[in-house]
Amino acid sequence: MNATVTPTETINPLMLRIAELNVYYGESHILRDVDLSVPQGKMVCLIGRNGVGKTTLLKTIMGLLSPRSGDIEYANRSIVKTSTDKRARLGIGYVPQGREIIPRLSVKDNLLLGLEARPGGRKGNEEIPQSIFELFPVLETMLARMGGDLSGGQQQQLAIARALMGQPQLLLLDEPTEGIQPSIILEIEAAVRRIVETTGISVLLVEQHLHFVRQADYYYAMQRGGIVASGATAELSNAVIQEFLAV
Ligand SMILES: Nc1ncnc2c1ncn2[C@@H]1O[C@H](COP(=O)(O)OP(=O)(O)O)[C@@H](O)[C@H]1O
Ligand SMILES: [Mg+2]
Repeated sequence: MNATVTPTETINPLMLRIAELNVYYGESHILRDVDLSVPQGKMVCLIGRNGVGKTTLLKTIMGLLSPRSGDIEYANRSIVKTSTDKRARLGIGYVPQGREIIPRLSVKDNLLLGLEARPGGRKGNEEIPQSIFELFPVLETMLARMGGDLSGGQQQQLAIARALMGQPQLLLLDEPTEGIQPSIILEIEAAVRRIVETTGISVLLVEQHLHFVRQADYYYAMQRGGIVASGATAELSNAVIQEFLAV
């Protein structure tokens, strides 16, 4: 992480290391020589205005897009040639932008779908761990409801909870507070911070809300598909905030 190596960071091994990544959509060069790392047990936030390539990066980490060049290492092994399913079973959880819960399945069945990502797959007799409801109490009261009948904020909590059901070691969250009312934003923020602090899961977050961005340990700022600034969020300057966040 360039000039910002801290003592903590040298102790924490890297959960994710992206090096010189280049991704195209057809002939459009979207990601340009992207370098980015997520230390184990830390929360890293990727910021940048609309259309700069943040979602493209998360999709490439998940294997939904193939890079033209560069490497992605997860837990010290290259995964660029690994299938999306296998990446999920290796412990990468992904909550896509727009959440994508299944509207016509109950909350409970949406959660149980998350079991598919466990290393051994789904066995059929698993229960939903109480820790999920401690993070997102509202879900426990709505298990029988259809996913599509939940509010936007509740659907987002469901999407994060479903990813946790797969017991990930790295969680990728793409704009989890987009279009969500402020009080729920604070709840989601607190839950994500708590996940990092109590489980040791590493998080790579794409986010526009400054208050949430500040919950992260480190930030990277993206512009036109390249990383143009990075460091500790404690040192986020107003200039960086104004340039890269829609505040
Ligand atoms: N399926 C696609 N085909 C072609 N271009 C795309 C596609 N999806 C996104 N793009 C383009 O790639 C760029 C980056 O998009 P995206 O990664 O979604 O940005 P962000 O998440 O930062 O808003 C944008 O210019 C967008 O128009
Ligand atoms: Mg996006």
